[in-house]
Amino acid sequence: MTRIRVGLLGIGTVGAGTFTVLKRNQAEISRRAGREIAITVVADLDTNRARSIVGDDIEVVSDAQQVVSRDDVDVVIELIGGYGIAKTLVLAAIEAGKHVVTANKALLAVHGTEIFAAAARKGVIVAYEAAVAGGIPIIKALREGLVANRIDWVAGIVNGTTNFILSEMRDKGLDFASVLKEAQRLGYAEADPTFDIEGIDAAHKTALMSAIAFGIPVQFDKAHIEGITKLERVDIQYAEQLGYRIKLLGIAKRTDKGVELRVHPSLVPARRLIASVEGAMNAVVVHGDALGTTLYYGAGAGSEPTASAVIADLVDIARLQGADPAHYTPVLGFQSASLNAAQSSLPVLPIEEVVTSYYLRARVSDEPGVLAKITTILSEHGVSIDALLQRESDDVLGEGADQTDLIILTHRTREGTMNDALASIQSLPTVLGSVVRLRKEELN
Ligand code: NDP
Ligand code: HSE
Repeated sequence: MTRIRVGLLGIGTVGAGTFTVLKRNQAEISRRAGREIAITVVADLDTNRARSIVGDDIEVVSDAQQVVSRDDVDVVIELIGGYGIAKTLVLAAIEAGKHVVTANKALLAVHGTEIFAAAARKGVIVAYEAAVAGGIPIIKALREGLVANRIDWVAGIVNGTTNFILSEMRDKGLDFASVLKEAQRLGYAEADPTFDIEGIDAAHKTALMSAIAFGIPVQFDKAHIEGITKLERVDIQYAEQLGYRIKLLGIAKRTDKGVELRVHPSLVPARRLIASVEGAMNAVVVHGDALGTTLYYGAGAGSEPTASAVIADLVDIARLQGADPAHYTPVLGFQSASLNAAQSSLPVLPIEEVVTSYYLRARVSDEPGVLAKITTILSEHGVSIDALLQRESDDVLGEGADQTDLIILTHRTREGTMNDALASIQSLPTVLGSVVRLRKEELN
């Protein structure tokens, strides 16, 4: 069979890994694909560095625009990143009738609907396994392996940088800034690390997973997003004492009223497997009605792990080359005509309508009646208490200490109700500073 000719746009961390793995495992990959997959042209702004990676036998150009419409390119891999030139190049490649592989979750989360529609019109594939959880084949699992199931929820650690930061801060007592620098050095972090630490990258990925899990359009703009920058070490410690780990979770959950789509630090029971996921590793838990709970674990970032997913997409395309587009796996796993109808029956819920349990920490004056006032307010709002702890944290100990921390775990309640209760608690003169509120996910 004729070989597949690939134009690679951007040979940075993931691009270089893709080139290396494809070259190293070429024979095996060709046997799997049924034909040779050859990168024939590479476009990168830094042509000298690109040439030092690919050698003299492969064409290197600086202008990616000229690659996307060439007759001698069958598939375009976009590994530049961002919404700017990447979007122009992806749409131009589709327009020129090329299949596209991308790891660019930001692009697909924000412009996916437009890009997928363009691809459907031209009868080409847009493949994006590497865009969610790096090397873990979660797109394939959700879109193909779990098709028999009605998916109830998906919850994942889908950002390696923040998981690495949380792990290092807890284990080694390192400070936030130095761990972030290390994550950048290791190639995990986005070009703009704000995307990582503010939860935006995880929300991009969770919005994509929610679309595939429930058959709704990608709605990143409706996701509730909180990162880890406001998380305090003392809460990580208290959570441990209560038997929980704090993880930045991306959650997509189907409820009777609609879909919860949220990213925030969450307390997870320490006994759950996902609580043990450390460093830059990712893990996604999926609950389907037939199979129950499954866990997908692996490297969510890095050069060769991400390349593994990029090449898996290339092989899928190589196997389908020449097939009728009607036989392609639907881009979001559901027939595209059904997506908009599902959107009205499964709207993304505002955060106030989310129902979950909570971890609350109030720093209070250590005097009689304080606890009673707080528990009374919770009770008046119908919030039921699950566990309660009083601790003197290191920074309030010492001579004349007259403050203490009250930590309360609640049962499930509506976020809007919790907001009202917290506003009342916050107004008590004996409550010092802002009450910390974290959400707790049992994942059972
Ligand atoms: P890098 O920044 O390492 O690589 C991007 C490359 O694209 C650089 O070599 C850059 O060149 C080049 N480039 C920039 N603009 C252009 C242009 N106009 N034309 C041609 N080349 C250009 O990024 P990553 O490899 O880390 O990420 C690539 C994509 O993969 C992103 O969408 C990212 O979100 C995604 N991703 C990354 C993962 C990771 O672990 N790193 C994991 C999963 C997904 P120069 O350096 O000279 O600017
Ligand atoms: N910045 C991302 C992360 C890369 O840290 O997980 C993988 O998408």
